[in-house]
Amino acid sequence: MIQRRIRHEPIAYITGHKEFFGIEFYVDPRVIIPRPETELLVEQALELANRRFPRSCISTDIGTGCGAIAIALASNLTQAKVYATDISASALEVAAINCQRHGVTGQVQLLQGDLLDPIPEPVHLVVANLPYIRDSEIAELSAESKLFEPMIALAGGEDGLEWIRKLLSQAGDKMSQDGAILIEIGYEQGVAVASLATEVFPEAAIRIVPDLSGHDRVVIIDDVYR
Ligand SMILES: C[S@@+](CC[C@H](N)C(=O)[O-])C[C@H]1O[C@@H](n2cnc3c(N)ncnc32)[C@H](O)[C@@H]1O
Repeated sequence: MIQRRIRHEPIAYITGHKEFFGIEFYVDPRVIIPRPETELLVEQALELANRRFPRSCISTDIGTGCGAIAIALASNLTQAKVYATDISASALEVAAINCQRHGVTGQVQLLQGDLLDPIPEPVHLVVANLPYIRDSEIAELSAESKLFEPMIALAGGEDGLEWIRKLLSQAGDKMSQDGAILIEIGYEQGVAVASLATEVFPEAAIRIVPDLSGHDRVVIIDDVYR
C-alpha cells in the first residue's frame, strides 16, 4: 500500500472506498473520486426537491461516475426517482455496485449515453457535475488526478464549458415546465455559466451559490419556463 501511495495512487483507490454525504462509496480508477465540494450540489438539490416537489420528484444525475449524487439524493428523498447517466460504461459498473450496496436499485435507474440523451421522460430536476477543467489546466492537476483518475471525468474542453453548454442546450426538451437545473462549476465559471443559462432560459431565476470557502460552486437555474 505504501508503494502504491509513493507512486501517487490516491488513498481512496488503494482502500477502495470514499465517504460522500455521510455515505460510503466503493471507488476504483474507473471513476473519479467524489469531492467534498459536490456535497453542496446535493444539499441544494435536496432543498429544492423537498420545497417544490415534496410528493414526487423525478431527478437526474448527469455524469454519475460512482453514483455518489444519485445515491445521496435517492437515500434522502423517499419520493424521488433518479435517472443517473454516464457516457462511460465502466463508470456505470461502479455505480451499479454502489446502488446494490445502498439498496437503491429500485429508485436509481442507470443509463448509458451522452448527457440527457437517454432520459426517457420529463424531469423536475437536472443535477449535473460534469467535467469542467479547461484543457490548458489539465497539466496543472495533481499527479494523483493526472495519473489515476479517468480523463473523461475531468476534461471540459477549451474553456471548460463544453459539456455544460451542451447540457443547457438539451435540457429544455427533457424537463417539466416548473423544473430546475443545478450544475457544479469551477470557481471562476459562475458568471460565464449564468450568462449561458440566461441565453437559453431568459425567463428563469438564476442564482450562483458559493461553497464554504466562498468560491462560486453551483449554478441554479430555477423555474426554467416561468
Ligand atoms: C466530474 S465527474 C463527476 C462524477 C460524479 N457525479 C461525482 O460528482 O463524483 C464527471 C462524469 O461525467 C461523465 N461524462 C463525461 N462526459 C459525459 C457525457 N457527454 N455524457 C454523460 N456523462 C459524461 C464522466 O464519465 C464522469 O463520470
